[in-house]
Amino acid sequence: MTGCSHHAPVPTPSLTPNLADLYSQCRRGHTLPQTLYTSAAVFDFEMDAVFTRAWLQAGHLAEIPRTGDYITVQLGKTSVVIIRESESVVRGYFNTCRHRGALLCTSDKGSARRLVCPYHQWTYDLGGNLIFARNMPADFDPRQHGLVPVHCEVVAGVIFIALSDDAPDFAEFRHQLEPMLAPHDLENAKVAHSVVLPEYANWKLVMENGRECYHCSARHPELLTAFRDPTEDDYFDAQPDWMKDFEAVCHANGLVNGPAEGAWFDILRFPIKDGVESLTLDGRLACSQLLIPSGEGNIGTLRWATEPNAFSHALRDHAFSFEAWPIDVGTTHVRGKWLVHKNAVEGRDYELAHLTALWNATNDQDKWLAENNFKGVQGRGYVPGPFSVNDEKKVIDFVNWYLDTAQRCLRF
Ligand code: FES
Ligand SMILES: [Fe+2]
Repeated sequence: MTGCSHHAPVPTPSLTPNLADLYSQCRRGHTLPQTLYTSAAVFDFEMDAVFTRAWLQAGHLAEIPRTGDYITVQLGKTSVVIIRESESVVRGYFNTCRHRGALLCTSDKGSARRLVCPYHQWTYDLGGNLIFARNMPADFDPRQHGLVPVHCEVVAGVIFIALSDDAPDFAEFRHQLEPMLAPHDLENAKVAHSVVLPEYANWKLVMENGRECYHCSARHPELLTAFRDPTEDDYFDAQPDWMKDFEAVCHANGLVNGPAEGAWFDILRFPIKDGVESLTLDGRLACSQLLIPSGEGNIGTLRWATEPNAFSHALRDHAFSFEAWPIDVGTTHVRGKWLVHKNAVEGRDYELAHLTALWNATNDQDKWLAENNFKGVQGRGYVPGPFSVNDEKKVIDFVNWYLDTAQRCLRF
């Protein structure tokens, strides 16, 4: 006998899931079925269906300021190297040697005049051409063995990659983001600090969490020292007074605010709290060397988010970016990066602890929330639950985008 009318479904023992059935069973406006968060087969499918068919924010020019500087990113089992070929050209390659496939660049970042494989020293120039391969036969053609490129685009100092030709059109996103972000001059920024935070949760739970502030009032006291509480009475009004004042300031500063939305991006400059100058614990500027040195008043924060894995903020004094890189079905690496003007000097113009405290606290809290969510979702009692239409609107958008992208792939 049971005293409760709500029962968890009895799961079928896990076999390889039928993906088309699984996706067609999803209820829009709700969290996903358990298998979509927990199945390694689904994860492998997502790497092909979602991540190789999207534009992924992968870094900043500020991370590779000089020719030969590179960073690597890990996505599932795939590693990509992003390298500055010259002052004006950034290239991306699969980080796999064309000889026997060894990983070519073995660290997160570095600098090289040529890329030399650690195994048998096949050597590539920064354009990906094979320029040295010892003792190969006379008919060996090095031109057939260059590094395999990935698509790479740079917008106002931010680097995006796409692993296949099936990524959506980039031009519209560039057209929207460039004029809004260019005034922050991230091309002349430097990375003051970066972290890689492993989160032991499925990547979609990490992103769902990152797309809503329904949890902020209870879980993010630091974040709410700077952001307006979205549960404030007038937050969803069309034009509250604080928004009118903010728009006048931005207009006077010559800034474009948006919103600009596309199928896979969302860009908006919005005000932070009155009297708060930056995203710091005390609300004061994090860096006295400003990214936007001219103009008066509080210009809030420019937030841009791209599906499936990133959001960023650019302020007058610094920028912060968040990238979530899925490693396996239960592991996601969150990369956090703080940028300030390249001439800023630590200890004189900014203090690292002051610059990073707000997002470090927030990311640690979100790590706990996502991991705790993953624990609950894996249990027998889990059934998909409804999102709040107001407070989790961007989560609904994320999940809908995810389902549309996955189902589009299944149809072809
Ligand atoms: S695998 Fe790279 S040189 Fe042999
Ligand atoms: Fe959060």
